[in-house]
Amino acid sequence: MNRNKLSLPALITIFGAKGDLTRRKLIPALYNLFIGGHLPDEFAVYCIDHLPADEAAFRKDLLSGVNEFSRTGVAEQAKWIEFAARLFYFQGDFLEDLTYTRLKDHAASFQKSGRKKATRLYYFATAPRFIEIIADGLYKHSLCNRSLLDRIVVEKPFGTDLASAKKLNVFLNRRFSEKQIYRIDHYLGKETVQNIMAFRFANYVFEPLWNHKYVDHIQISVAEEVGVGKRGGYYDSSGALRDMIQNHLLQLLCIVAMECPSAYQSEIIRDAKTKLLKSVRHLTSHEVWKNVVRGQYTAGSIEGESNPGYRKEEQVAPGSTTETFVAAKFFIDNKRWKDVPFFLTTGKAMPKQASLIVVQFRDSPHKIFRGDIVPNRLIISIQPELEISLLFESKVPGPVMNLRAVDMDFTYQESYTESLPEAYEALLLDVLEGDPTLFMRADQVEAAWKVVMPVLDAWSKHPSKKLHFYKAGSWGPESAILSIIKPYAAKLFQLPRFERPARKS
Ligand code: BG6
Repeated sequence: MNRNKLSLPALITIFGAKGDLTRRKLIPALYNLFIGGHLPDEFAVYCIDHLPADEAAFRKDLLSGVNEFSRTGVAEQAKWIEFAARLFYFQGDFLEDLTYTRLKDHAASFQKSGRKKATRLYYFATAPRFIEIIADGLYKHSLCNRSLLDRIVVEKPFGTDLASAKKLNVFLNRRFSEKQIYRIDHYLGKETVQNIMAFRFANYVFEPLWNHKYVDHIQISVAEEVGVGKRGGYYDSSGALRDMIQNHLLQLLCIVAMECPSAYQSEIIRDAKTKLLKSVRHLTSHEVWKNVVRGQYTAGSIEGESNPGYRKEEQVAPGSTTETFVAAKFFIDNKRWKDVPFFLTTGKAMPKQASLIVVQFRDSPHKIFRGDIVPNRLIISIQPELEISLLFESKVPGPVMNLRAVDMDFTYQESYTESLPEAYEALLLDVLEGDPTLFMRADQVEAAWKVVMPVLDAWSKHPSKKLHFYKAGSWGPESAILSIIKPYAAKLFQLPRFERPARKS
């Protein structure tokens, strides 16, 4: 990351400090920002949770989290000691005033020791039910009252439907200004996702092709190898549509399909994304059953390991109808994308992890070669492969004019020596710098909820209608998926839906 060190002191408070997010993502990200020289000279991280913990043991646990999850591997001892000296734990009930008065005292003494006013960042790494409680505590105790320097970071899920998201927006906007609220979607911090903007808008060669005249359809897929694991309690009341499509996949859709913003400026970019979301055609209840497939995994095996069926996972209701797989076909009502289907697909307990965006170009209208010609295809691999490839036809060497599809590839590994920062590093630094470009504005979140509401409504009226089952370790309910994609480029879908086509040897 080539960014300057922050000049203002920073006071970072994490609510929900004993949770998984803090240990796996936030502290490793802050540690990497620290060793990369991005944090200001004066900073402190206050970690709050309701559980008792001795500070030394807490720091030790965070160190083991860094050693296990940081992209830079095991922490360097001297650096960790320096970093950990700025980490503090205190036990506090989010419902009690005492928690906020103690935080205020800490903030005051931190502020006193510095020469300049500090940026204050409050990270809500908690269950959603605490968002309003903590926001209110911060507001009442004037802990987040400087509109230019105080910021809150709210994790997803932001609401559970349109009405609750609106209510939460009103609640937060009454206490803080919109520019203090950072609604995080970690997909937007991924290096490969940020690169899509560069790919589309810094390279003029693709722009003339990026529309209905040349594009047959676009596929945005996020397959996860893992099942719900220990998150059954949360997941069972959420499901794949709320957990992944409403946020991560719709955000990817925005970047792939939005118009070129007039400048690389946060509000202009957020306007362009919101406009796109508002152009997504809303499904009628009849179309929901035709265009959206939901599935739930049953017992199976993934990479040779057996995986229980979803209904047997911890904290999942035995007869649960929660979906762990969604494939949906959406259309965008504007000139650029007239009649081009966008397939958004996500699933848990799939054969392997793969997040891909596939832009399938149309077939040539005039064919002069015999045999099977594969239409051009652009594949943007977000993870675990980090690459972009263009599939095109080429002549196989030899005396006969035989063609075969080959790849033209860009990989991060071959092109760059820099290591890729984790999404949370980029996003935390953005919040500290006060740059909201990669965060969701209130209207953007609401527009995203509007897209999925017809589906949620139809499903809640008929909880088990057309819930398809698929084996853990398979690519989802095959025949149901085929029914929504059938008319479009059959060749693409002969491949497993998420897998990058095998490289030619
Ligand atoms: C989270 C979802 O937002 O994203 C999880 O709640 C999901 O269910 C995760 O596993 C996927 O993120 P990533 O970065 O591992 O693709």
